[in-house]
Amino acid sequence: MAKSLTGSKPLPPHQRIKRFLDVGWTFLVIYLTYKRIQRNKKLTPAQRERRLSQAHTKNAERIYGLATRLEGMLIKTCQFISSRADVAPTEYIAVLSRLQDSVPARPYSQVVAVIRGEFGKHPDELFDGFTRAPIASASLAQVHRARTKDGHDVAVKVQYPGIDRILETDLRNIAILVKILARIEKNFDFRIMMRELNKDMPRELDFELEGRSSERVAKDLAHRHDIRIPKVHWAETRRRVLTTEFIEATKISDIEALLAEGIDPNQVALIMTEAYCEQILVHGFFHADPHPGNLFVLPGPVVVFLDFGLSKELPESFRLNYAKLITALIAQDNERMVSAFRAIGFKTKSDDPESLVALGQSFFDYGGMDNKPYVDADVMPEVNERLSRILQANPVTEIPGDILLIFRVLGLMSGLQKRLDSRVDMVGTITPYAEEQAQKLLEMTQGDAAG
Ligand SMILES: Nc1ncnc2c1ncn2[C@@H]1O[C@H](COP(=O)(O)OP(=O)(O)OP(=O)(O)O)[C@@H](O)[C@H]1O
Ligand SMILES: [Mg+2]
Repeated sequence: MAKSLTGSKPLPPHQRIKRFLDVGWTFLVIYLTYKRIQRNKKLTPAQRERRLSQAHTKNAERIYGLATRLEGMLIKTCQFISSRADVAPTEYIAVLSRLQDSVPARPYSQVVAVIRGEFGKHPDELFDGFTRAPIASASLAQVHRARTKDGHDVAVKVQYPGIDRILETDLRNIAILVKILARIEKNFDFRIMMRELNKDMPRELDFELEGRSSERVAKDLAHRHDIRIPKVHWAETRRRVLTTEFIEATKISDIEALLAEGIDPNQVALIMTEAYCEQILVHGFFHADPHPGNLFVLPGPVVVFLDFGLSKELPESFRLNYAKLITALIAQDNERMVSAFRAIGFKTKSDDPESLVALGQSFFDYGGMDNKPYVDADVMPEVNERLSRILQANPVTEIPGDILLIFRVLGLMSGLQKRLDSRVDMVGTITPYAEEQAQKLLEMTQGDAAG
């Protein structure tokens, strides 16, 4: 039997197979609805457009139904899709955004059982005014409002009972899919993604670790008065229960509410960009899940970061070479770009640098002609086509595991910048952070060479 990743057993075999089939069936149905529209040659362009939009809504509802039925990784995937306002159809975003913080909750009796299991006490013994109904619920937990016995307003995040077994099952099912994919697509090693997922998912179930991660980022960003991270109440925190300072703020994607409060969305986009430059490039430790359910804004504006379950630490040499890669990309210095790509662990089949240059170049190409701070959906097909042609000739055979969560952040940030209608000067904002670190790398290597 496979070793447990989460420390829990997977679901019984019949449920595990049922999950697999349920996902497979839903995606087959979705595929067929699009195929039917595509095949129907009698439709005028306007009719086709309308049919497509209807199909998007219907299919998004199907995925929503599937995700709320099965929970686990599916909700995480939907959160990602719904955060990609830059590339995903609006119909999908409208339906799937509900899964960012409004997943159908578990009954109160289950919440009581988890809190009893962790503290040996009923919520009403541990807290004052613990609300029966949750204020929010997402992929791993639901959150209830309460007051600590010493009078602090708190948000109590209570893990769904059984979510560990669901995730264990999902990881095993995904491993099977990856094996099948590996046989079909020999040019890319999907096992790297599997390895990272197997490391990250179990960590998300440990709320004490999440609390420590939030404190680490809070300390790193303490000098930024425009960023706030709720304080952890350790006395009321255990592995499955995280109690933090309650913060009432506006969801970052609620643009109308932001504007009504006199908050400039572009200013929020700038704070977000700087926050990620500093976390990734300067400290090498970052919040890796910036979907709108985890980001809020207070007047100022002050950006509130919640949910540090998915946090990532970068090895120092990776961080410095990543900074070097960025400076090389900005300077369009292909030689340095390729040397940085290689230093952080990228390899291509023929060792010819062309694929790495194309990969680097695509970062700018996705922004379109006017270098938008988010992916321009209009140019995407063309850039994808060009990139895949080059990658087919000389495939990238190795991708460093450490870059995957950076890619995740870049994707989520692109969606967010689009949502905020950002006009942030990306190159101008990123350059000082990247150059400072690239300079450090240079000094280190010169030091090594001299000594
Ligand atoms: N300190 C807080 N103050 C106010 N609201 C909070 C606080 N902590 C959590 N929430 C609310 O609870 C929701 C769920 O919390 P959280 O994101 O930590 O759960 P999760 O299951 O880990 O989420 P995800 O699915 O993103 O992994 C948040 O989207 C937010 O709406
Ligand atoms: Mg969350």
